[in-house]
Amino acid sequence: MSRDFKLDLPLRPRRLRRTASRRALVAETVLRPEDFIAPLFVVEGRARPEPIASMPGVFRLSIRDLVKECRELHRLGVRGVALFPKLDAKLKDAEGTQALNPDTLVLRAVRAVKAAVPELTVITDVALDPYTSHGHDGVLNGAKDDVDNDRTVAILREMAVLQAEAGVDFVAPSDMMDGRVKAIRQALDAAGHTDTGILAYSAKYNSAYYGPFRDAVGSAQAAGTKLLSKATYQMNPANRREAVEEVKLDVAEGADIVMVKPAGLYLDIIREVRNATRRPVAAYQISGEYAQIHAAAKLGWLDLARCREESLLAIKRAGADLILTYFAKDMAKLLG
Ligand code: PBG
Repeated sequence: MSRDFKLDLPLRPRRLRRTASRRALVAETVLRPEDFIAPLFVVEGRARPEPIASMPGVFRLSIRDLVKECRELHRLGVRGVALFPKLDAKLKDAEGTQALNPDTLVLRAVRAVKAAVPELTVITDVALDPYTSHGHDGVLNGAKDDVDNDRTVAILREMAVLQAEAGVDFVAPSDMMDGRVKAIRQALDAAGHTDTGILAYSAKYNSAYYGPFRDAVGSAQAAGTKLLSKATYQMNPANRREAVEEVKLDVAEGADIVMVKPAGLYLDIIREVRNATRRPVAAYQISGEYAQIHAAAKLGWLDLARCREESLLAIKRAGADLILTYFAKDMAKLLG
């Protein structure tokens, strides 16, 4: 057979891939520093930044260092941060009492960040896991040893109002209790916080990939296990239709932004949610996704920079408008 062979093709898709400029001109998805929200961990006192073994490059910061970090992130073009407190174990109890202390760590952190960088969008979690001795996101119903939905929502409402008073832009219920978005919206409005938004963790799955985060906030240590099951409130990874139901409920209850979490293993869910609502969609590239990329890169098995970019492009391509990621600062530096 002759090798002197030319296909007669009207369209050769490779033409558009021929040079870096052609590829850039026809790129469908482009990452910007403004796409990212940096999750940050805060601790009490004036300690030096504490490394988190399973999350290279991520530290627990004192309020002073947190403020510095927020200034830098803002200078680099990142527009939002999500703050997570790590409380001393002795402050935790079964009811998560410290969550309603008006001077609790995260509220002091919010005030300090808002005073220093008022334009930066500050988001705080509404859930009890950093505060409970058992590590669950809510208070337990003694009889069933399960999280008590309505009693938890009553606490979350108060927590959200305290966060709004401290100056957050968005409260982010991450607890997956039924009806919490509506209850929080009503409580915020009743307290005059009509401008405080709700970023709802609407489709949050019961994922094994939260492990490094639970080390970071100490909820694994409090619970005495890394394998605490939140299966009675977080979603079953087997389900997709249910995510759309959850999103619709949260939108009807007043969620300003809906979120899918984790992100990389749930790209189908991000797309499904994108198609189901016109609200902005956020996705959370969680601690385990970050840890996996770093671990493989450390072994020399994957290239950190390329996997980082590809993982984030995939999340944005799937339909996320904003992405919570521990790579936020790295990406802002690269793209800035
Ligand atoms: C807790 C909460 C979790 C994360 C954010 N808020 C963990 C959990 O539900 O156990 C996980 C974030 C991450 O893994 O990066 N309400």
